[in-house]
Amino acid sequence: MELGLNGKCVLITGASGGIGCAAALAFAKEGAKLALVDLDWGERTQAVKDAIAQTGAEVEYIACNVADFDAVEKAVKTAHERFGSLDVVINNAGITKDGLVMRMKEQDFDSVIGVNLKGAFNFVRHAAPIMTRQRSGRFINVASIVGVVGNPGQANYSASKAGIIGLTKTVAKELGSRNITSNAIAPGFIETAMTDALSDKVKAELNSHISLRRLGKAEDVARLMVFLASDAGSYISGQVIGVDGCMSI
Ligand SMILES: NC(=O)c1ccc[n+]([C@@H]2O[C@H](COP(=O)([O-])OP(=O)(O)OC[C@H]3O[C@@H](n4cnc5c(N)ncnc54)[C@H](O)[C@@H]3O)[C@@H](O)[C@H]2O)c1
Repeated sequence: MELGLNGKCVLITGASGGIGCAAALAFAKEGAKLALVDLDWGERTQAVKDAIAQTGAEVEYIACNVADFDAVEKAVKTAHERFGSLDVVINNAGITKDGLVMRMKEQDFDSVIGVNLKGAFNFVRHAAPIMTRQRSGRFINVASIVGVVGNPGQANYSASKAGIIGLTKTVAKELGSRNITSNAIAPGFIETAMTDALSDKVKAELNSHISLRRLGKAEDVARLMVFLASDAGSYISGQVIGVDGCMSI
């Protein structure tokens, strides 16, 4: 299948993390140019940079806190100036600060909403004018199964991911006439740093709710991102697509 991603500029946030890095590698394989955003691109990210370098992809590493509106404006400008277009934006950066709602600190609520939800808004806000002028663009926002069904101990995280879904659908409706699509991916439990912290007992308990009886891999999510960004995904918009091994039904 011809995916049509060769030479396209794909911006990915949280790109040094598990899912973000898998996405960067998957898009590099399709010949895309990469604008990779994360908090920093220092020593801790060397292995990721080495893996990307091996693909031979053109890449711009951008250090940016996605929660910072002005910093995101600069990041978008940097990517656009470097590659001359901005074809795909993947809002993937995310954090958790779990706790029961009755004990949750205000700061833990605000920071999770700030990174996960406002971070996605910031990129939509600054990238949409460029995509509108191009008359093409794709937003792919990483939500979560818990944004659909909720999860005890994750009021902040679930609310941020439910917010992502509302943002995604609204952007799809507002910008569809400009040939811009907007979709959300709702992963279940994917093996990354975010889930490494879970004990074997918790993982076994989770497995029992997953029909496919395994946690997902970052590549499982990355493949859907590539499809949604490709020519093959051009008539899909406003959707929330689960990648959860059949956990959410
Ligand atoms: N792993 C899972 O099971 C799972 C399930 C559902 C949804 N998700 C979502 O998938 C996305 C990626 O998660 P992951 O599992 O790869 O986690 P991860 O922790 O491996 O990666 C998250 C990345 O986001 C970056 N980041 C955090 N705060 C940032 C900020 N303020 N500005 C810029 N970058 C920032 C981190 O540095 C990190 O590289 C997140 O949005 C997460 O909520 C993950």
